[in-house]
Amino acid sequence: MSKQILCLPGDGIGPEIVAEALKVLDVVKSRFGLAIEISEGLVGGASLDVHGVPLTDETLAEAKKSDAILFGSVGGPKWDDQPMMNRPERGLLKLRSEMGLFANLRPAMLFPQLAEASSLKHERVAGLDILIVRELTGGIYFGEPRGVRTLESGEREGYNTYVYRESEIKRIAKVAFEAAQKRGGRLTSVDKSNVLEVTALWREIVSDMGSDYSDVELSHMYVDNAAMQLVREPKQFDVMVTGNMFGDILSDCAAMLTGSIGMLPSASLNEVNQGMYEPVHGSAPDIAGQGKANPLAQILSLAMLLRYSLGEIAAADAIEKAVSDVLDQGLRTGDIASEGCTQVSTSEMGDAVVACLKS
Ligand code: IPM
Ligand code: MG
Repeated sequence: MSKQILCLPGDGIGPEIVAEALKVLDVVKSRFGLAIEISEGLVGGASLDVHGVPLTDETLAEAKKSDAILFGSVGGPKWDDQPMMNRPERGLLKLRSEMGLFANLRPAMLFPQLAEASSLKHERVAGLDILIVRELTGGIYFGEPRGVRTLESGEREGYNTYVYRESEIKRIAKVAFEAAQKRGGRLTSVDKSNVLEVTALWREIVSDMGSDYSDVELSHMYVDNAAMQLVREPKQFDVMVTGNMFGDILSDCAAMLTGSIGMLPSASLNEVNQGMYEPVHGSAPDIAGQGKANPLAQILSLAMLLRYSLGEIAAADAIEKAVSDVLDQGLRTGDIASEGCTQVSTSEMGDAVVACLKS
């Protein structure tokens, strides 16, 4: 039976980079004889413009039926005046929460060819390979109550709720411990347990679980220190596990260490390995439609999709190798451009990956 992929290109640079990933999918489909059916839907501002909501019930139902979702990016200044619960980002958040995509895997690895693009010195980042495991369906992103209320004084007050249940902490910690077992055997749990009760509970539970994983070296770090350590000595980290908001922030920070956020894919998985795959970067409205965007994070997200949700390891390996090959050829989009390299457009980069896969 063929597998179903739902494509949700979204806004900004999303459609341009998803188009490149689809070219790549086309080639690997024929090269590896994959039976995959692709459908396409609207999300974010693109959906708002047509349907008045950032995600329709129909598209959500379609997503739930799919084996995997290839997601572009959402948001842009055009929709900034939408009320919070109708912003383009809500489409993404609703998909995450309705599909139970609690485990967000964000690898930050450095392609050796791009060491010069990092904002840190070469020796600090050479060989960098971190996996951030971010909890994605709980924490302050989803906690209730939330809103803006008017106090008796007439002053307005905004509020959100930072909450984690034991079971939510355990299931994400399990993913992180198991990832550490398969990688370098080290796990750093990031919290703010010196100030926030919810993360003190987080630390207690992760510590307790540590005894079941005697082969993993577990450490704990406050989030402020973790941010500092990421830019001071990033190679001390193997796997990091943290809550939704801290993971959002630290993964952007880790991304920059690799030279470009335009290179980093991510996977969001639920308990039955359905997954949504998206670049870590956002919709970059400032460069949308100009052929400047780097499609490699989207293409690498496709590789993750094939690996994790479809089990097509050879196809995933081939895509990752093709990406490395185009970097070897000296091809660079603007975000990773450096002296002596050839600057190419979004579609030229996609075409180059396709050519490598065909050769
Ligand atoms: C991310 C993004 C999203 C998030 C936004 C677009 C809602 O920043 O995936 O990191 O905050 O989770
Ligand atoms: Mg983010």
